[in-house]
Order: sequence, then C-alpha cells, then structure tokens
Amino acid sequence: MMITDDRIKHSLAVAKKMKEMAAENPDKYPVEPGAAFVLGLLHDVGYEFSGEQKEHAHKGGSVLKEQGYKYWKEVYYHGIPQDEYDSPMLRLLNYADMITGPAGEYMTIEQRIEDIAKRYGEGSWQDLEARKLAFSLFAFSRD
Ligand SMILES: [Fe+2]
Repeated sequence: MMITDDRIKHSLAVAKKMKEMAAENPDKYPVEPGAAFVLGLLHDVGYEFSGEQKEHAHKGGSVLKEQGYKYWKEVYYHGIPQDEYDSPMLRLLNYADMITGPAGEYMTIEQRIEDIAKRYGEGSWQDLEARKLAFSLFAFSRD
C-alpha cells in the first residue's frame, strides 16, 4: 500500500481540525495546537509501510518510535478500540479522524460510520471498530 493523494487530503484536514479544536478547547484538550497539527499530518503515515489497512496504525507508530517522535503512541493506537493506552492527544486524534472522510471532507460521526459501512460492508471489522470507537468518544464528550 502507498499513501494516496486522498490520504494526504484526509491527513491535512485532520491536522487542521486538531489544531482548531486544541486552540478552542484547551480544557478538554490540554495539548499544544501546533503539536496537534503535526500529529494529524503524520497519523496515517503507516499506510506507506504497511501491506494491510489493519496494520497501518501499529506500523506507522513503530516507524515514528524508531525516529524518536513524541506522539508515536497516539499514532500506534489511533482508530483502535483498546484500553492499553489513553491520552488527551489520542482522544483528539480519534475524534478529528472520525469526523473527517477519506478525502478530507468533514462530516458527523454518524455520517462517517455510514460511509465506512458503505465502503467496507456492514458488520466488517472496519465497521465494528468504527462503531466501538465512536461509542467511547461519545462517552467521553458527555463528561
Ligand atoms: Fe489511520
């Protein structure tokens, strides 16, 4: 797999959204807006090194860890429902990723889940993981 032009558009849109949300919501996301922007740009870099979509987060996180990147864990765990790791930066990334479509179009979480179900099939692992992730993000935004 390789990073496509659409993936770059998606990553740039996630970067802009993360920077904006960090700047507007410092209590909820106590992170540096510039750092949030850089993470948004980098979060899908694993697509360049991974043969499989399912591996791209771990692969990208590992590559960035080797290079000493501060937020490699956020990349490593993004988009994956899990309880091994949590941080405000990871929540911000997952949220921005969930409201940004595959070519950088902003949408609601509901629309994004519908889009994933349409592209990968209802009940596919992509669909189930997106739903699980959305559920944990909703739980977070209530508190
Ligand atoms: Fe990703």
